[in-house]
Amino acid sequence: MCPKLTPPEKLPGVGDLSQTALLKALRGEPVPHTPVWFMRQAGRSLPEYLAVREGVAMLDACADPELIVEITLQPVRRYGVDAAIFFSDIVLPLKAVGVDLDIVPGTGPVVAKPVATLADVEAIPDLTPEHVSFITEAVRGLVGELAGVNGGTPLIGFAGAPFTVASYLVEGGPSKEHARTKALMFGAPEVWEALMRKIAGISATFLQVQVEAGASAVQLFDSWAGALTPADYERFVMPHSADVLGRIGDLGVPRIHFGVGTSNLLDLMGRAGADVVGVDWRTPLDRAIEVVGPTRGVQGNLDPTLVFAPTDVMTARAAEIIDAGRAARGHVFNLGHGVIPSTDPDQLARLTEFVQSYPLA
Ligand code: CP3
Repeated sequence: MCPKLTPPEKLPGVGDLSQTALLKALRGEPVPHTPVWFMRQAGRSLPEYLAVREGVAMLDACADPELIVEITLQPVRRYGVDAAIFFSDIVLPLKAVGVDLDIVPGTGPVVAKPVATLADVEAIPDLTPEHVSFITEAVRGLVGELAGVNGGTPLIGFAGAPFTVASYLVEGGPSKEHARTKALMFGAPEVWEALMRKIAGISATFLQVQVEAGASAVQLFDSWAGALTPADYERFVMPHSADVLGRIGDLGVPRIHFGVGTSNLLDLMGRAGADVVGVDWRTPLDRAIEVVGPTRGVQGNLDPTLVFAPTDVMTARAAEIIDAGRAARGHVFNLGHGVIPSTDPDQLARLTEFVQSYPLA
C-alpha cells in the first residue's frame, strides 16, 4: 500500500537534513547538541499566531496552505528550535472526509453526531490523498522554506492515534473519563474493531501524505491512552497503533509515539513500532529509559509549568533531564505535554538556548 519512497531529506531542492541534530537523535546517533522542539510550539502562546488567526476559525486555518506555512514557521523563526511541527489538528482528516465536527475555542474538537453503531463507523469514508491536497501543498511549501532556516530545519508530521481520535468521535467532545469510549470498547468489540481499523487507515494515510510531501519524521499522538490499563491497551488499542506505525515504517522516516499519563504503557507504546517514545513529565526520564530499553530513544519531558518558574529553576530542571537523557539510545528534549497558552515566549526562547548550548561532553 505504501510504496518505498525517496527519503524526504533527499528530495530535490530540500537539501540534506539527515545530519541535523533532530534526525541524528531520532536514529540514536551522537549529536552536536540535544535537539529541542515543543509540542504546541505553534499556537496561542505566540502573539504573532494570535494576530494571523484573528477572525479565522481553527479548521479554516488548517485548510489554508499559506496560513499553515506561516504558523508552522513562526516558532521556528522565533526560537530557532531543531524541528518544526506541522500546524494542523488530529481531527483535521476526519473533517476532510466529511465528518461534521468543529474545533471550539477553549473546548476542543466537538463532533455533531457521535459514533455509536457499526453503521456510524461504516458511514465514515476512508481518507484519500485527494481529500487533503491542501496538506500536500502546505508541506511542500514548508519543506522548501525550512531548508533555508538555520541551515535546514526538519519538519515533523503528525496524526492522532486510533484510541485518542476514537475518544473524540465516540464522546462527541473532550472527556475526562472516556467512559462512553471504553464502554464501546468493552461492550461492542465488533464496533470497536471496525472503528479502530477505520481510524488507523485514516491516520496512516494522513501521515503518508505528509511524508510523501517532505516531512522528515512523524509523531503519533495517543494523548489519552493513559486512561487504559496495560492489558486493555495491549488487547484493544496497541494492534491498531502498531498498524499505523508499521505502515509508516515502510516509508523510512523515524516515528515518535507519545501519550500522557502513560508510565505503565511506555514499553508497549515502544513495542507498537516507535523509534522514539514520548514521555510526559510525571515519569522520571531515567526510569522511562530503563523501561523503553536500549533499542529505542526517548523524547521529553520537562513539566510544562516549569517555564512559569524563575529561569534558573527551569534551566536546572532542564539540565537534569538532559543529563538523564544521555543514558538513552537517543534523546530529544521537549516538554512533557503541550505549551500552556499563557506561557511567556521569552522563557521558551531562554529554554531553547539553554538546551542547545548545554555541553554534552
Ligand atoms: O504546535 C503544534 O503542536 C502543532 C499543531 C497541533 C495542534 N493540535 C494545533 C491546535 C497539534 C500537534 C495538535 C494535536 C492535537 N489536537 C492533540 C494531540 C496533542 C496533545 O495536546 O495531546 C489533541 C488531543 C488535539 C485535540 C485538540 N485540538 C485540543 C485538545 C485542542 C485545544 C482546545 C482548546 O482550545 O483548549 C485543539 C485545538 C487546537 N489545536 C489549537 C491549536 C493551536 C487551539 C485552537 C486555536 O488556537 O483556536
